[in-house]
This record gives sequence, structure tokens and C-alpha cells, in this order.
Amino acid sequence: MKGILLAGGNGTRLYPLTRVTNKHLMSIYDKPMIFYPLSTLMLAGIREIALISSPKDLPSYKQLLGSGEHLGLSITYIEQEKPEGIAQAFTLAEDFINRDSVCLTLGDNIFYGDGFSKLLKDCTELEEGGIVFGYQVNDPERYGVVSFDQAGNVIDIEEKPQVPKSNYAIPGVYFYDNKIVDIAKGLTPSARGELEITDVNLYYLQRGQLKVKLFGRGSAWLDTGTPDSLLDASNFVGTLEKRQGNKIACLEEIAYKMGYISIDTLTKNISAMPNGTYKKYLAQILKNETASVAAVTS
Ligand code: G1P
Repeated sequence: MKGILLAGGNGTRLYPLTRVTNKHLMSIYDKPMIFYPLSTLMLAGIREIALISSPKDLPSYKQLLGSGEHLGLSITYIEQEKPEGIAQAFTLAEDFINRDSVCLTLGDNIFYGDGFSKLLKDCTELEEGGIVFGYQVNDPERYGVVSFDQAGNVIDIEEKPQVPKSNYAIPGVYFYDNKIVDIAKGLTPSARGELEITDVNLYYLQRGQLKVKLFGRGSAWLDTGTPDSLLDASNFVGTLEKRQGNKIACLEEIAYKMGYISIDTLTKNISAMPNGTYKKYLAQILKNETASVAAVTS
């Protein structure tokens, strides 16, 4: 399965923060926002990833993430001349997707929770149809909303309904089979002028090919498109990191723990970093790891 990271858009709700810098490069506590959705793909076991952004902003992402090799990934960069909705990503990435299935994550969606990686990993086994998620929120009218009948079957999905039929929003991580490219090509823009991901989901739903899995109440889904949600996400990450001493979305740690890079590559990555808390954190992981490798081999 391939992965797509969508980091486009104008970030208008964050102006003037976004006057010069792309939204997905903003800080979420101690890391750029894009690290979080990238970690989502990495934890799902996806290593071939396309990052989509504007021609103006792509160079910054290339500078930040390079070829991905230092993380055991292969990152392809795709230009989006003009943002025309989430589903546009699939036509832009047609060559990259090729004959594979695909997982798309939105660059401003952050996920956290026990069991989350396993849930996503299971979705990468998808052969036919699509898988999306439902997450209970207080303000469903801001999102794609999924509603269920009494037996728990999905009856409808609506984009930003004025009167939501449920409190279940659909977060920005989606899994689809290879039909997605043709489906995206057949879409027409909505009233707000976008190729809607909700129309993709409805296409699969109407053919009985959409699974909706629920994220439990113990998991966190945060989107970070407004000043308040940006601050909330930073506070959330900062609170957990300070309390536990573990970092969330530390890409080098994930790459090592997932077996994408060797201990030598991890060591090289750390040596290339300037002194600071991020380097210190990784150096401690390396130290613990070297000690356990030494204990096994002695
Ligand atoms: C988009 C989707 C919506 C989804 C949301 C998740 O909303 O259109 O269905 O629930 O992302 O973040 P937008 O970012 O366009 O407001």
C-alpha cells in the first residue's frame, strides 16, 4: 500500500501565520505539524509516500524530509498547482499510486491512542473497497459526518451538514483500493468548488464497499487548522511528552522501532543534529538500545 500526505491548501484560517509559511510546517509543540501525519503512515507500516503541496512550498518539505532514506522511507514530491479539494490528490498521484491501494492522510490531522497503530496496520491489508473512521465530536457540522441505523449500519455520509444526523465525524485518514483514481477522475466539484472526499466515500458506500471503523473514546483526534486548535494540539502533545518522557511523532525513533533503519543509520541521524532536547531524547534511546544489544550479544 502507498501513502499520500496532503499538505496543500492556503491555510487562510491561520493568516498571518501562513502568509509566508505553509500551514503544515507550523509547530505542534516541539515538531513541525507534518511529522504527526507522517508518523501515522509510518506506524501503519507504509514506506512509499507521496507528499503533495504547492510549487511554492514543496522546496521546504524537500529540505525538511529529503528522499526519506534516513527514515527508511521513499518520499516522492508532487506539485498541486491549485488546491481543488482532498480528492484531487488521487488524480495528481495517479502515476505514484500505479496499481496499488492507498492510504491518504491530511497534513493537519493528528492521531494518538493506544492500539491506534494496530488498527491502521490492519487496514493496510485492504484489497477491495474503502475504509474510513468515525470519531465522536461535539461539533460534527465542521466535518464529514457518518450516520448509522439502529443496528449500527452506515446509512449516510454528509459533508458539513447544517443539521448533523450524528456526532460521528470522519477524520482525515482514508484507505482505498486501486479504483480510487478512476473514482476521483469522475467527480464533479461541490457547491464550495472542491472535489470532496465525502463524494468518494459515498461512491463506495452506495456500492456496499465502505467500512467505517470507530475510534474509541480513549483515542485522540485533533485537527489543527485554526489558532485555537493549533494551541490545543501543542498543549496536548506537550502535556503527554512532559508527563511520560516519550515523544509523540519522533520520526527517527519510529523508523528505528519499526525496523526501517539500522542502529548505524540512527546513530548517523543523531550525529547530524544540532544539540537540543530532540537530539538528547534520541541519544538516550540509542544509549538504551546499545546497552540492550550489548547485553544480548555478551
Ligand atoms: C475535510 C473533509 C471532511 C473531514 C475533515 C477532517 O474538511 O472535507 O470530510 O471530516 O477534512 O479534518 P475540511 O478540511 O475541508 O474542512
